[in-house]
Amino acid sequence: MARKVVPELAFERAQGAYMWDADNIRYIDLHGAFGPCILGHNNPRINDAVVRAMVGQFSLCGSGTNSLEGRFAELMCTNIPSCEMVQVLNTGTEATMAALRMARGITGRDHIIVIQGGFNGSHNDVACNVLTPLSQIGPRVSPGEYKCVPLGTGVPQAHQQLIHIVNFNDLDSVRYVCERYSIAALITEPILQNLGVIKPQPGYLQGLRQLADQYGFVLVFDEVKTGFRYSVSGYSEISCVQPDLVVWAKAIANGYPISALGGKRDLMEQLCHADPAKRPFMAGTYNGHPVALAAAIATIECLLENQGDVYRHLEMLGSTLEAGISDALTSNGITHVVSRQGSALCIYFMDHHPQDWHDLASHHRVDFDARLRQALVQRGVYVFPLAMKQWSISAAHTKQDIEFVMDAFDQSITQLKSSYE
Ligand SMILES: Cc1ncc(COP(=O)(O)O)c(C=O)c1O
Repeated sequence: MARKVVPELAFERAQGAYMWDADNIRYIDLHGAFGPCILGHNNPRINDAVVRAMVGQFSLCGSGTNSLEGRFAELMCTNIPSCEMVQVLNTGTEATMAALRMARGITGRDHIIVIQGGFNGSHNDVACNVLTPLSQIGPRVSPGEYKCVPLGTGVPQAHQQLIHIVNFNDLDSVRYVCERYSIAALITEPILQNLGVIKPQPGYLQGLRQLADQYGFVLVFDEVKTGFRYSVSGYSEISCVQPDLVVWAKAIANGYPISALGGKRDLMEQLCHADPAKRPFMAGTYNGHPVALAAAIATIECLLENQGDVYRHLEMLGSTLEAGISDALTSNGITHVVSRQGSALCIYFMDHHPQDWHDLASHHRVDFDARLRQALVQRGVYVFPLAMKQWSISAAHTKQDIEFVMDAFDQSITQLKSSYE
């Protein structure tokens, strides 16, 4: 459903920085499958590791721990300060669901705080309030909360009562909700990357940490998109804020299906608590699957090589693209800001960096953003053709690819300029 967009392209193959559609038209891919393909499509090193696992270790799941799980845990716990222990899962949704169940089990509380404009998966606790029309939730409130607006039908009313929606970058509203309900957990993407790239304001994530300590809720960072995109150690390390639990997926395995839940040892150990009454339930036939683990290990090893060469390359490409976009828009008199963190960026057609969903929905030229994306796709640059979605560069992109993107960008702006006013 999330991929049902116009133009309705069917892709046949992908390699490195490129994808080809069913008519054999080539696109430079700046979508990266919603984020996983940090090393580019079909990276031979990752695929080789997968083939080796298929030949030698394929059947090793569901029977007991396997050696790949051990190596994966070693890489995670050695390189990510917020990861003292780790559990391997399959999808981001599964990982956030497990994190919130753990938080409820450990605190004995039911209520959860979710951020308006964040996306944390498709289970009942979090499948709500992303690009919610302001007509449905009303004007910005602070301090206060919004009603839970599920992304589709099927979420029981009783369940919605347990979910409290607050603005990103708004500590007063978190405090407001904590004063009224027994909060088990707050879950947030540390950068709102399902609305492009909306960054935390200075002190916001630190403030969440303090409120978690004050009110006794579990602070969960959803690093499904931020994790491994900027550094192996994660955005918690970049922001110097230690959450209690963290979930990772997407770029952890360059496109192979795996996720992980990790965090503080005393919380993670509850998963093996001797007393079943104190043990959050967690199970999955494919947890610890060798194929996905082999991909994850090979990906993390690539990302760690030469003290982060990959990230330096991504930063160079990202800053070149950002500068090119800004120059082109400024010289055409188009009001904009480019919000970028490393290889992830988004252009907002407004005069300041948005701080939350209301700010973005009230000021961004959504129509112009959507038309620009269509124009780029027509010129062989695949950005996801839905306004406000993140652009993602991979390590397979080259300076020449960014030059191609800039040519297409200049032509698109020339085409659309007259419709900007
Ligand atoms: C931040 C974030 N969390 C969780 C999820 C859910 O992950 P999955 O699609 O693997 O279930 C997504 C998916 O886009 C996401 O962007």
